[in-house]
Amino acid sequence: MPPGRPTIGVFDSGFGGLTVLKALLEVIPNADYLYFGDTARLPYGSKSAETVAKYAVEASHFLEKQGAGVLVIACNTATALALDTIRRASSVPVIGVIDPGAEQASSASKARKAVVIATEATVGSHAYLKALESRGMEAKEKACPLLVPLVEEGWVEHAVTEQVARIYLQESFAGGFESADVLLLGCTHYPLLKSVLQRVIRPDVIIVDSAESTALVVAQQLGSPLAAQPTDSATKVQFFATDSVEKFRRLGARFLGRSIEEVKHVDLRE
Ligand code: DGL
Repeated sequence: MPPGRPTIGVFDSGFGGLTVLKALLEVIPNADYLYFGDTARLPYGSKSAETVAKYAVEASHFLEKQGAGVLVIACNTATALALDTIRRASSVPVIGVIDPGAEQASSASKARKAVVIATEATVGSHAYLKALESRGMEAKEKACPLLVPLVEEGWVEHAVTEQVARIYLQESFAGGFESADVLLLGCTHYPLLKSVLQRVIRPDVIIVDSAESTALVVAQQLGSPLAAQPTDSATKVQFFATDSVEKFRRLGARFLGRSIEEVKHVDLRE
């Protein structure tokens, strides 16, 4: 990482990684950001490891060319299926969301048992299971494919979403995992559902958001004084998307929690 103000490249399959960007902006305001959402090719959560790795490497090369000095793979699916491939293909440090999330879950858990909710591809890779087991924990992974479309529909406080979440989580906190005391959010979209999820689990279960954990790890890697310093000039954030820029602005604002002015369209085949 060159000295001076860092440029952090954030990659996701679409809009969801904006929850990670939001956490990064809070923890590290004194940096510039490039956000790439591969909206033309989402969802990644139902694709094969080979396809996700190919897409993720293309996006990482794009972000490096734009000047990113460090890459954050905000997409849980891309981290689970392709982190090593992306690291091998990149010449800058690459940070994924799984180890930070697993580390925070391990610090938070007394029962040493966690439930992880994620996309089908992330669950199929068992990346969270391995990361938690290596920290001496037991984990139950649960694919929740209906939650991403519900969040994208804006139904974050909808009765249907609450019912769907209740069914998924009743199935998860069972079969020896009744005593799990951590719910690890292994998908970019789930932080928007925190209040719904909190309502359908035992009140003592701690929700661990891998977006927040990742932002803290990035701050550590960049050196904590940077994160502690006040912003000396306005944070520059550039957005790139492979599909409609209008849709990115509209949907993205929900994930980022603020309006998005300018989005550049990118065609990675060009
Ligand atoms: N970004 C993906 C993840 O965190 C969710 C959306 C998708 O399937 O592309 O796993």
